[in-house]
Amino acid sequence: MPARKPGAPKVSPAPATPNGFLNVVDERTGTSYRLAVEDGAIRATDLHQIRASPEEPGLLSYDPSFANTASCRSAITFIDGDRGILRYRGYPIEELAASKSYLEVAYLLIHGSLPTKSQLSEWLYNITHHTMLHENVQKFMDGFHHDAHPMAMMVSTLAALSTFYPDAKNIGDEHIRYQQAFRLIAKVPTVAAFAHRHSTGMPYIHPSNDLSYPENFLAMMYRPSWTTQYTPDPVLAKALDTLFVLHADHEQNCSSNAMRAVGSSHADPYSCAAAAAAALYGPLHGGANEQVVRMLQEVGSKERVPQLIRQVKEGRRLLMGFGHRIYKSYDPRARLIQQVAEEVFAVTGRNPLIDVALALENIALSDDYFISRRLYPNVDFYSGIIYQAMGFPTDMFPVLFAIPRMSGWIAQWIEMLQDPEQKIARPRQVYIGHAERHLEVTGVKEPVRRPARTVDTRPRSRAPGPSPAI
Ligand code: ACO
Repeated sequence: MPARKPGAPKVSPAPATPNGFLNVVDERTGTSYRLAVEDGAIRATDLHQIRASPEEPGLLSYDPSFANTASCRSAITFIDGDRGILRYRGYPIEELAASKSYLEVAYLLIHGSLPTKSQLSEWLYNITHHTMLHENVQKFMDGFHHDAHPMAMMVSTLAALSTFYPDAKNIGDEHIRYQQAFRLIAKVPTVAAFAHRHSTGMPYIHPSNDLSYPENFLAMMYRPSWTTQYTPDPVLAKALDTLFVLHADHEQNCSSNAMRAVGSSHADPYSCAAAAAAALYGPLHGGANEQVVRMLQEVGSKERVPQLIRQVKEGRRLLMGFGHRIYKSYDPRARLIQQVAEEVFAVTGRNPLIDVALALENIALSDDYFISRRLYPNVDFYSGIIYQAMGFPTDMFPVLFAIPRMSGWIAQWIEMLQDPEQKIARPRQVYIGHAERHLEVTGVKEPVRRPARTVDTRPRSRAPGPSPAI
């Protein structure tokens, strides 16, 4: 196997898997091949030497949706899906959630180690002093329709930020890269809160340097515009910070993969983050938290849970917030989120949807359909119930996921850029279309013209009602 190039991150999977060789025999030709196994993987390009005849292209591995393909070597996040383990840079998620703030964890993800006291104060200073949005970004956001989904506003505004920071294109400059990291982590709560204020028609509340990261976000969301006096509830601010820690990274999920794939073409980080946020928006990924609450509201009471379970088992719908590509036992984040829920409910009062959710979980976890498929609650099953208790509108839930995931996306993007093994992401395909075929040539090629339109010159009466869609 070709040696790992210098600089490529060294991964130490736990438990360690022995390296060695895999012998395969191509029964089409009788040829044997010896493929190197390193860290539990063979290199897909080693398969290329396997061919039925010299004229044929080499063997591909076919893996729709990357179900069993490692696209990178990463030292950021470790998941053991069978044992329900999640670690950032080696630290168990439970320890980080209990004793570190989200911004410390963001630093850890991006830099690889927790900050010292002076590193932390510099990091906090940089984040705090990059929270403002250019006035023209606000004007840009003003242009959205009043009922635009806030996550769609987030996706578009992240992309628009690219036009405000053209220097960000210089991705080879380490200083410039880190400057975009501050900007993106600092500005994403401001964009999120402005999206909410826009949809409710309330004036934007500018960031305050006196508040912590979660407090500042809560103030921008909820502070009435006629007063500067607003103190976010410390329990809710702490709970939100813990939720941010739990959502900060999750290795090569759909949105991180989008961040890396777009970044591999050397696009600027704002464009990459917009692509990642677009991936997160989908209901099978970060949009699931919104769908869970809509589903629980539709069910309404514990008594109607069996009806939902029946529909899921009949294949008529998905049980949102259940199942995961990697976790095949309990998602550790879902367990921690249940604890946060109790702290939040102590302040806000109990969200009655929690009882429907618990009943649903109990029934699902004792049903063979879910047991046999190893479907457990994922991070999104309980998060929306907490967000709702905290007063966030349902369509803000995916946005609340995007805020902390920004640090994970940036860590993944920087790691990808620094990995000398990474090239532009460009998967292969198994072509299943027509073999070569030919056009029936009927004559000389004529330019295609639009058919002439007949113009109706009769006067029109203007019907009352909404103006036509443009
Ligand atoms: N409800 C009902 N059945 C399910 C569910 C579910 N939520 N999830 C998976 N299954 C079933 C599938 O139908 C399939 O059954 P089959 O073997 O009879 O065909 C089997 O379980 C395996 O599921 P896959 O679709 O192969 O699992 P995959 O890894 O591709 O999908 C995913 C993972 C997308 C998370 C899926 O479980 C799902 O759609 N869940 C609901 C949406 C959700 O909660 N998404 C949030 C995930 S966490 C996150 O992204 C932050």
